[in-house]
Amino acid sequence: MSYETIQVEIHGGAGLVRLHRPEALNALNARLIDELDQALTAFEADERIGCHVLTGSEKAFAAGADIKEMQAKSFADAYLGDFISRWECVARLRKPIIAAVSGYALGGGCELAMMCDFIIASETAQFGQPEIKLGVIPGAGGTQRLTRAIGKAKAMDLCLTGRFMGAEEAERAGLVARVVPEEQLFAEAIKAAQIVAGMSLPAAMTAKEAVDRAYESTLAEGVKFERRAFYALFATEDQKEGMAAFIEKRRPKFKNR
Ligand code: CAA
Repeated sequence: MSYETIQVEIHGGAGLVRLHRPEALNALNARLIDELDQALTAFEADERIGCHVLTGSEKAFAAGADIKEMQAKSFADAYLGDFISRWECVARLRKPIIAAVSGYALGGGCELAMMCDFIIASETAQFGQPEIKLGVIPGAGGTQRLTRAIGKAKAMDLCLTGRFMGAEEAERAGLVARVVPEEQLFAEAIKAAQIVAGMSLPAAMTAKEAVDRAYESTLAEGVKFERRAFYALFATEDQKEGMAAFIEKRRPKFKNR
């Protein structure tokens, strides 16, 4: 399949999607979201893939929703068309997805990165929700996911002033899992994705589901969900193999990966 606004590669068990609209700093237009959905859907169904990676260019992960495409929309266009709902294709994935962020991750770009399971950033990454400067607010989960990730004080600061936050501050605040030099970003993200892809897929998908459940439930409910999911994994061959391999001091050979 050939795409116009993204590039797709497979590296071992890692399925990589690179946002590619260099003329617009990877601004997210309808075509790009459509192609992203198609590519990720294909990876979800591809047995070779155990983990997705979403990345952009050195200069920009994505500079937000495409302002030129949005500017003329009326309330009815926006509300009835509900164009942002298409972006949920990233949040709906069941296989793990890692965002590899370099340069600008602004507005919808920051929101897209936050829909991923974790973010690896280069030292040059800049995160922000500058929609306020356009007379609007974040529309793809920014006020919600950012607040859960970094707390009210910093989320308010970013959403109200529109200032950008560098990689170091983002890591300190808990938005970013790792920060690496720019030239190591790609290798680091692919290596992390291949490690995830080497695990038992049911275990990796269940771990993702359980961590996500922490956002949607009380502690008591979440712990109950986790325990049921933990017990359920004893029904997999991979649990027998993983524990046998530990006891026999060898590497596990997972079937479902
Ligand atoms: N939409 C459309 N085009 C964009 C864009 C965007 N979000 N961001 C950058 N571009 C385009 C610019 O218009 C420019 O195109 P032209 O050369 O044709 O004029 C090109 O990309 C390069 O951009 P700049 O010349 O502005 O580059 P810069 O290095 O001087 O500045 C920047 C970089 C600070 C990221 C600046 O481009 C910028 O502020 N971009 C907009 C960021 C923003 O406001 N994002 C939020 C969008 S709204 C949103 O995302 C809503 C939501 O929550 C869903």
